[in-house]
Amino acid sequence: MPRALPPHPTMLAWLTALALATVSSSAASSVEAADPPAHEAPTSMVVAAEPFAAAAGELMLERGGNAIDAAVATGFTLAVTYPVAGNLGGGGFMVAQIRDSEGIQRRFALDFRETAPAAATADLYVRARAEGLLDASTFGALSAGVPGSVAGLLEALRRYGTLPREVVLGPAISLAQSGFPMTRRTAEFLRTPSIREQLERDPGSKALFYPDGEPIAEGANFRQPDLAKTLMGIAEFGPDAFYRGEIAALTVLAMKRGGGIITLADLENYRPVMRLPMIFPFAGHSIITMPPPSSGGVCLKQILTMLERHPLAELGHNSSAALHLMVEAMRRSFADRNAFLGDPDFVTLPLDRLLDAKYLAAQSASINPALATPSDALPGGSLPSVQAPLEKEETTHYSVVDAHGNAVSVTTTLNGAFGSKTLVVGAGYLLNNEMDDFAAEPGKANLYGLIQGDANAVAPGKRPLSSMTPTIITDGNGNVRAVLGTPGGPTIITNVLQVILNLLVFGLEPQAAVNAPKVHHQHLPDRVQVEKEIPADVREGLERRGHAVAERSWIGDFQLIYVDPITGVRKGATDPRGGGAALGH
Ligand code: DON
Repeated sequence: MPRALPPHPTMLAWLTALALATVSSSAASSVEAADPPAHEAPTSMVVAAEPFAAAAGELMLERGGNAIDAAVATGFTLAVTYPVAGNLGGGGFMVAQIRDSEGIQRRFALDFRETAPAAATADLYVRARAEGLLDASTFGALSAGVPGSVAGLLEALRRYGTLPREVVLGPAISLAQSGFPMTRRTAEFLRTPSIREQLERDPGSKALFYPDGEPIAEGANFRQPDLAKTLMGIAEFGPDAFYRGEIAALTVLAMKRGGGIITLADLENYRPVMRLPMIFPFAGHSIITMPPPSSGGVCLKQILTMLERHPLAELGHNSSAALHLMVEAMRRSFADRNAFLGDPDFVTLPLDRLLDAKYLAAQSASINPALATPSDALPGGSLPSVQAPLEKEETTHYSVVDAHGNAVSVTTTLNGAFGSKTLVVGAGYLLNNEMDDFAAEPGKANLYGLIQGDANAVAPGKRPLSSMTPTIITDGNGNVRAVLGTPGGPTIITNVLQVILNLLVFGLEPQAAVNAPKVHHQHLPDRVQVEKEIPADVREGLERRGHAVAERSWIGDFQLIYVDPITGVRKGATDPRGGGAALGH
């Protein structure tokens, strides 16, 4: 039997000690510095975008919980300590490989993506624009889908967890109640003028994050008593505490105040969906990843299959010749993604055709090693080409491996930073702006510059197409080798792709695989986005092959665990681009 957790405030002291122990290691590195080794531990590992959240998961593992207990504790804690992206009012995906209580191995993909409210229609945002609401799909109550995170995390815990709900939510409750030192990253977001302007337009967000008219500063104690109450209700009564009763009423009140359309019935009707993960072979391993309504699994399989026919390793890691091939495969896959993918429960997706070996072989053969194919020449290329507004993107990923080799990979989001910026007053949680992931207005680019088709049109109850790609890699015997994922909108897919290639094709060490500079192409706009560390000669090599190259801000905030095939040591690699932590024992 797992031992009970220490009572608050002893738990707070533990969490703080654990979290602080990681800060020096995570803050010390940078993308430019020589790659340090990953954080190693013999038994178990949690890697998350924020140290307290990693500590909450690690605490569960130290107390005898399994990877699901740890992941759920980390997920709820992120809602407290990383309000930029951690959430109760958003959604996400969990991919897991675990042994259940009978010792049977389970692989599943839990879909707790938000759904469109029953009153949503395909022309919702076109009409809103006509009425003068120019940012209705990204800002305010109308941009929110019905939240899925509480139902999803509790469903995972109910099915496969071993610790009681009160224990698993304990760290989140303590941190919300007593407060914690505001993190550098969240403080930076709060100071960012465009984000501040929107948060200050919402009375609840303004009161919470700018209590004296100024953003809460790094290091200041950040308390969230309303959120603590909400979490205590969830710990005591389960999902009903969130989807029915007082908190649901407060959510609907926030809709009434902010012009949103989520009803009590929408909340009561929300259900997470257990799906079969996508599993496919690559480089002697199995890739276990997220099926639709994520586009991640489909695109990963397409791109990796196209690339298998090309001599990437010989061309060299991040050489212009290798990057060119990767970009061409990305371009082809995103053309399909944007035109054909959507919620599989609402539209028939041509997956047989998109994943057909002959089709992918032909796509691969159509790549000219010397020359870029203009996106306009590819199917889907008839959609209008526009400049992508490159929003500051936020979502978050966490990875867990426990002592038994169980693995859990979760990516969760409010979509944009702080989601819709709408705080549910009295309940203390932020609502997502996930409705913008639909093709909200025909022909118009969304927050991430994606232009998408009818398959991803808004419909009541439908899930918007996602790029989130929580992934697990196993070896030929089915043992977990890696658990990985990142935020970044559409760059999630191409970043996960590059880390897989870095590990399995280019043979990079785990931390180097994460730190290495990344590139991205998404069919439209027709340009290769590169991080600034991609050297000038490599960019020139891409330009010589006919690519438009655009430098952009950092890509992603990767959280990787790699399990050494010989020793079984867990190696946690958190991304120096973010402020995360790897913790294990
Ligand atoms: O589901 C999606 O694809 C997006 N809502 C993810 C947004 C995201 O990753 C933003 N973060 N960096």
